Amino acid sequence: MASAVLPIKGLEGIIATKSSICWIDGEAGVLAYRGIDIHDLANHSNFEETTYLLWFGVLPTESQLAEFSRELAAARTMNWRIYDFLRSVPYESTPMEVLRTAVSLLSLYDPDEKDSTHDSNVRKSYRLTSQIAMIVAIFDRIRKGKSIVDPDRTLSHSANFLRMLNGVNPTETATRALDVALILQADHELNASTFAARVIASTLSDMHSAIVGAIGALKGPLHGGANAETMKLLIAIDESGTDPVEYVRQMFAQKKKISGFGHRVYVTEDPRATHLRRMSEDLGKSSGKSKWFDMSRTIELFVNKEKKLNANVDFYSASTYTTLGVEIDLFTPIFAISRIAGWAAHVIEQLDDNRLIRPRADYIGPPYPEPYTPIAER
Ligand SMILES: CC(C)(COP(=O)(O)OP(=O)(O)OC[C@H]1O[C@@H](n2cnc3c(N)ncnc32)[C@H](O)[C@@H]1OP(=O)(O)O)[C@@H](O)C(=O)NCCC(=O)NCCS
Repeated sequence: MASAVLPIKGLEGIIATKSSICWIDGEAGVLAYRGIDIHDLANHSNFEETTYLLWFGVLPTESQLAEFSRELAAARTMNWRIYDFLRSVPYESTPMEVLRTAVSLLSLYDPDEKDSTHDSNVRKSYRLTSQIAMIVAIFDRIRKGKSIVDPDRTLSHSANFLRMLNGVNPTETATRALDVALILQADHELNASTFAARVIASTLSDMHSAIVGAIGALKGPLHGGANAETMKLLIAIDESGTDPVEYVRQMFAQKKKISGFGHRVYVTEDPRATHLRRMSEDLGKSSGKSKWFDMSRTIELFVNKEKKLNANVDFYSASTYTTLGVEIDLFTPIFAISRIAGWAAHVIEQLDDNRLIRPRADYIGPPYPEPYTPIAER
């Protein structure tokens, strides 16, 4: 078959697959999972229900949701060797590196490791969803010299994560805030990490390999790493004592990018940012710590005006998580705790109707045939 005529840098606008999971209208600022608007999900759903929707295509009945939540909670278990590994890594390793490596290790102890059937992949999805949250919480406790907190299977996914992270049962406000953040980030069509996962799955490699690749892609500052970069910027502005607008103006003058702004698909407001902005503001007010929200809002208005760039999902995640007391290097791992729902849905969809993903490159190297020069003559 003939190759495409023109290469499109970054594959912008290229339709690479059919999918029934996530729909984005970048011009209208619409995001929907299985046809259901993200605003409805953020306002009314919870992470378990949204994950069920992503994996099985429909909203669960009450009993289906109860059973699903039970199975997800039952999967809060890991081989003791994973605990040993988490104790053995250098404490200064970043949680994303540790998560990436630990997920790879998980495959060695997964009962379905050698089985890539649909049902087996669904079973692995339950386990990976629960285990990724556990790994993030457990490593954070270990690196801080704190005792590991056992999972509580009576709690929701979000509440259990916060409990395992902080050692105390979370407030309802904190649990709901995290739950909404997890819903908002659970899927986003063919974003870079999901595409990476689908490419790996398409080779008929295994689900763990696909998720390891996805975590590696998510880690980058142009993708999931942008939430942490945003917070580093807010702190740098605060510590410099410079007016935020002036600081950002100087960054523009130096042709620097402002993390948390811009998007490949949205040309209007990212609908996820709408919720995170509100959450950041509400949490700031209720905790009496609105400094980060106020600074973020000032920057947003300036960047909007100056460059016509909108805040994306990562911009207000930064002030939201910081106000919740979450450390910066856990922001992107929390993104992974959420996005595993979408990654799993996409890997399953890919394998249910697979064809190897193998595009072509527009060759711009030396013209063929170049002579092979013997080494002594070079
Ligand atoms: C998200 C992102 C990678 C999309 O990239 P893209 O579609 O390839 O768009 P480009 O990087 O080519 O940007 C197009 C133009 O907008 C500018 N731009 C895009 N995002 C910008 C940002 N955050 N700050 C400043 N300028 C930005 C670029 O400099 C470029 O300007 P130019 O045409 O004058 O060179 C990009 O907007 C970005 O790097 N944002 C910051 C990182 C981030 O928040 N990532 C999380 C995404 S959810």
